[in-house]
Parts: sequence; C-alpha cells; structure tokens
Amino acid sequence: MTTAVILGLQFGDEGKGKVVDCCAAQADHVVRFQGGNNAGHTVQIKDKIFRLHLLPSGVIREKHTIIGNGVVVDPQVLLKEIEELQKTNIKINLSISDRAHVILPLHKELDALEEKLKDKWAAGTTKRGIGPCYQDKIGRFGIRFCDLLDEKVFEEKITFLYKAKELLCRSVFNEPLELSLEETVSKYQQYLSKFQSLITDTVHIIHQAVEKGENILFEGAQGALLDIDFGIYPFTTSSNTTVGAVATGAGFPPKKLDRIIGILKAYTSRVGTGYFAAEITDSIGDMIREKGHEYGTTTGRPRRIGWLDLFAAKYSVQINGVTDLAITKLDVLGGLKTIKVCTGYEYQGKTLASFPANSLWLKDCKSIYKEFPSWPDYSPNEWGELASGEITDLPKELQNYINFISDFLKVPIYLISVGPQRGHTINKGSIF
Ligand code: IMP
Repeated sequence: MTTAVILGLQFGDEGKGKVVDCCAAQADHVVRFQGGNNAGHTVQIKDKIFRLHLLPSGVIREKHTIIGNGVVVDPQVLLKEIEELQKTNIKINLSISDRAHVILPLHKELDALEEKLKDKWAAGTTKRGIGPCYQDKIGRFGIRFCDLLDEKVFEEKITFLYKAKELLCRSVFNEPLELSLEETVSKYQQYLSKFQSLITDTVHIIHQAVEKGENILFEGAQGALLDIDFGIYPFTTSSNTTVGAVATGAGFPPKKLDRIIGILKAYTSRVGTGYFAAEITDSIGDMIREKGHEYGTTTGRPRRIGWLDLFAAKYSVQINGVTDLAITKLDVLGGLKTIKVCTGYEYQGKTLASFPANSLWLKDCKSIYKEFPSWPDYSPNEWGELASGEITDLPKELQNYINFISDFLKVPIYLISVGPQRGHTINKGSIF
C-alpha cells in the first residue's frame, strides 16, 4: 500500500485536477477531505473538459471516490455533478461520509450578507455558503448527512437552525431568509432520495482499504495561502487546506501518509481580495491571464496574476512537509523576455525571516526578485513532443528555472506539466 496527498502550495488553481488525474491511474481510492464546491478542478481528456467541484478528480478514471467528513457538501450541486457525469457514460463509484456537513440554502444567503457587512475585510468568497456552513459546524449547529438519514432528527435540527438564522438575519441584516423552512425540508428530502445509498461511514472504508494494502490518494482543494490558520487571514477560505486536514477531514492517521505532493503553478494567480506579494499589475499580467486562461472555474472571475513567490512557497512546503514537487503551466511563461521569481520580502527596510501573520504588512512588503531568461513559446503539439521525453530534453532555460525552484525549496521534482492534456506531463514514474 502507498498513500499520497496532493496539496496546493499557493492560492488554489495550481492544477490539482490534472495532477490528481495523472496520479490516480494507480490509485484504488481518491478522497476529498476539506472544502466544498468553492473548488473547481479541471481535467481535460482530448477535447473533453471536465470541471469538478465536489467529486474527487479520480472519478474520471472510474476509481472509487470518497467525500470525507471534512468536506462541506451542497447536495444540489453534488447531484447535478453526478448527473452531468453520468451523461458521459463514466461509471461513478462514490461514498459520502455520514459525518460530512450539509450546505443549506441559508448558508449561501448568509455568505452574501456577511461579505457585504465585512466591506473591505471581505475575502471575495465564491458565495457557495462554505464559510457559514463551517461556522455552523464549529458552533455545533450543523446538519450532517447522518442527520439527513433520520427524518425526525433532520426536521428537528433544521427547524431549530432555521429559526436561529432567521432571527440573526432579521436583527443583523434586516433581511428575511429567502427560502422557507418547508421548501428547504422538501428539497433536501428529494435530494436524499437520490443518493441515500451512498452515505456511509467512510472512516471505516478508508481503514479497510489500509488493511487490504490498497493505494489511497487524497485530493486537497484550494491552497496553503488560503488556509484558515496559515493563510493570509482573513482573506482565506474557512477550512484547513494543509496536510493536517487529511487527518481531521478523512480520519486518516498522519503517520501512514507516505508522500506529500505539493503543487506550484509556474507563476501566481489569486481570485478574491487580499494583498499578495509579487503581483503583476502591468500588461504582462494581462498576457499571462489570457494565455493561461486564468478565470475562476467556479465563478468565472478574472484571476489576479503575480510572479512565482518562493518565499511564500517555502512557508507552504514547511507547513505541509512536502516530499515531492509538481510544477504546472510552465508552457504559459514561454516567449516572455524575462521571468521573475520572488525570493524574499523586505518590510520597513528589513528582510523578513518568516512569512508575516499580519496580512496588512503584505501591502507594504517589497518583493526581492531573481530574474531568469525564458524559453521558447512552443505550440501545444511541440510541448507534447517535448513531454514525451525526459526533463533533461527540455530547453536549458526551463531546466534552470525548475532546478532553481527545487533547490530553493529543497524538495525534488516529481512531475512537471506543460499543457492541459495527460500527454503534456513528465513524471518520475508512478507515485504508488
Ligand atoms: P470561500 O472559500 O468561498 O469562502 O472563499 C474564500 C476565499 O477563498 C476567496 O478569496 C475565494 O476566491 C478563495 N477560494 C475558495 N476556493 C477557491 C479555489 O478553489 N481556488 C481559488 N480560490 C478559492
């Protein structure tokens, strides 16, 4: 048995969908353990593009997929995703944790209202109800899938929650809740009837797989800089996006994790608000955004672009204990005159020794850059041909770039990606 986790080291959108799809070939189970449908994982197989928000990306390879207890699930979105995928004749083998929390329409309403209230401190959320659902989980108001299975308990819990939230909405936001309690209950009972049989004790399933010596791949969502504890707070998501969440969000013991694969995109992108170092505000940023199709998979929002920030990446590597690096979207930087990499921050004339907790400092931090010459702007076919060889067959400038990243972070490279297709990938054998 081998177990591995794939985690984003930046602000999400590093290309987790593609890397999970590549690594899932030899996996028996692919497990999501945090986040919800704020995530948007893209897998491209020839001319077919799959955009997944809740189903683990291993579903495309028809692996057994698990939605762990740490995920917050919008049943309506999950159903739609299942139905869309079924149209493509992909066989879905899915288990949903009975301990996972359920996103309700009121969570989405509260997400929008809270963002408005927060004004300049708003994170620019995806408005999918993620934060309010996690708030209810921590506040012990939440509704879990095991509650949905028991009609009486569900009705009792949702009636209480609904009344409490209506009071909150009216008194704080001066707004009523849009969807009535009766409508919500009836909708959720309909959803349940469609996937009741998938709700199960996923902790037990995972530990049975461990006993049988099967390969398990854990699929992270978002990235380390959006982590609720370690990210650029409060411009973060509401879950832990770093390695500890595998333990808490799937019931998997940390000691049993063999490989921790950290993904870095060759540059930075960020949706939502909040300062970040190395942001590119001129036409080069626009060029990278267009060439890299940097628009949110979930919301369609244009992503802000920056140079690769290795000072932040070092912090992400430390927190996660990354054992292997995957570097994606290297093709996008081809043809630029020079490429910059941020290697440190200067704040009030001093070089910072560690990543600052105070997100306001980032506004006044000066990025320390190292510059690299770029490589040619190859066509997708040319990149495909290059990727059929070894890393040592790639242009010298590209090799210098990735070797600098690996040396700086002190982590070996496992995989590089130079395009969206499976064939645009070079990896060092199976992770399992
Ligand atoms: P929330 O997760 O919807 O509450 O959004 C909080 C912050 O995280 C916002 O800045 C979002 O844009 C960002 N975010 C959440 N999920 C993702 C993701 O999968 N990729 C990139 N950014 C994300």
